Amino acid sequence: MIQKPKGTYDIYGDKSSQILFLRKLITSLMDKYNYKYVQTPIFESSELFHRGVGETTDIVSKETYDFKDRGNRDLTLRPEGTAGLVRCLIENKLYIDANPLKTWYFGSMFRYERPQSGRNREFSQFGVETFGSNDPMMDAEVISIIVNLFKLLGLKGIKVNINTLGDMESRMTYRSALLDYFKPYLDDLCDDCKSRYSKNPLRILDCKVDSGNEIMKNAPKMSDYLNEASKEHFDKVKEYLESMGIEYVVCDTLVRGLDYYTHTVFEVTSEVEGFGSQNVLGAGGRYDNLVKTIGGPDIPGVGFAVGIERLLLALEAEGINVSEDNGIDVYLFAMSTDYKRYMFELANTLRVNGFNVDLDYSGRNIKNNFKHADKLGAKFVVLIGKDEVESNILTIKNNETKEEYKVKLEDITLFLDEKLSE
Ligand code: HAM
Repeated sequence: MIQKPKGTYDIYGDKSSQILFLRKLITSLMDKYNYKYVQTPIFESSELFHRGVGETTDIVSKETYDFKDRGNRDLTLRPEGTAGLVRCLIENKLYIDANPLKTWYFGSMFRYERPQSGRNREFSQFGVETFGSNDPMMDAEVISIIVNLFKLLGLKGIKVNINTLGDMESRMTYRSALLDYFKPYLDDLCDDCKSRYSKNPLRILDCKVDSGNEIMKNAPKMSDYLNEASKEHFDKVKEYLESMGIEYVVCDTLVRGLDYYTHTVFEVTSEVEGFGSQNVLGAGGRYDNLVKTIGGPDIPGVGFAVGIERLLLALEAEGINVSEDNGIDVYLFAMSTDYKRYMFELANTLRVNGFNVDLDYSGRNIKNNFKHADKLGAKFVVLIGKDEVESNILTIKNNETKEEYKVKLEDITLFLDEKLSE
């Protein structure tokens, strides 16, 4: 038997209605913030991720799905959405209207990671990216989107961690402080950290292996190396978060696994007991140099992405049931094959008039038809037999109260409209 590749999964049944529900909720939330939906390719030229996400990140150095197509081009399945959105902004000159440009996306990402609960090789992200504003209000707005989404869903065990990496100047000063500090301890660090030391020492602070040891605990703190402009930006972000009543924790070891961040970085975690180690539901930050690095104009950006699978796990952990499946409006069945055509025509009429309709394809008996109507969550059942076809007066049953009605064919849409809106 051919099986799905490791780290991937099929979406069907309850999971598909949950995902459809989330997409609908996200779409309406994005309308409220006036963000526009953008879709970019699932694969891009490999160079985009090497330049954009950064060579020293695990995502690019260890986890990409790289391949050559039949034209010998180097391509990569996107491991994240930001770089592709930036490429789209530059290629389509969307930055002309970037005052600011506020976008969102939803789709599959691919990372060759060791699969576990909440960590897949193909997973979905809902993300937002905004371009053209370096106002700290935008950082706060973007954070408020995740917080409000989670609030709308009823999640309670959520924590917002924020930090600042400062601007380039602050980062360079901090970088040399870290190099000086870690130099005598190099032999005590893990192999990954040894290589991070020369390539991107900030990422040493993000190390899962060495985290918690004394060397890490005593490392210099970014907050001591921020210049005035960076401090002011971060203070404003906090002020705006407070203005919306958003609770946050400043976590000064938060540096995030991607190279492109400047100023604000943040992660939203599920703190529900027993959730597991993959508890970062969404994360993001400001990336004021990324557009330029990828070859565009000097335009700032800030955004985030939420992992949909982890969000579903968090909902399950808090016992929150979300679903887009509200059952159907009408179920039809014919008492004999002679009336199938009549039933089929009526089903079509009802569907084009806006009702959610299903019907009996297999000629079940009456009892099994009612059982099936229950399974589909049908609110009304229409029975079609000899009398109905000859008189054009239909027999309709309320599937909940079992009340029976006789309704003229020409009045059926009006009747159902009225009854369903009761
Ligand atoms: P990221 O932290 O790499 O950031 O991923 C964002 C979210 O995607 C994570 O918090 C997690 O929920 C989910 N995620 C990541 N990897 C996996 C995986 N293997 N399986 C399941 N879920 C996963 C980014 O991707 C940035 N592009 C976010 C961003 C947007 N920053 C600025 N704009």
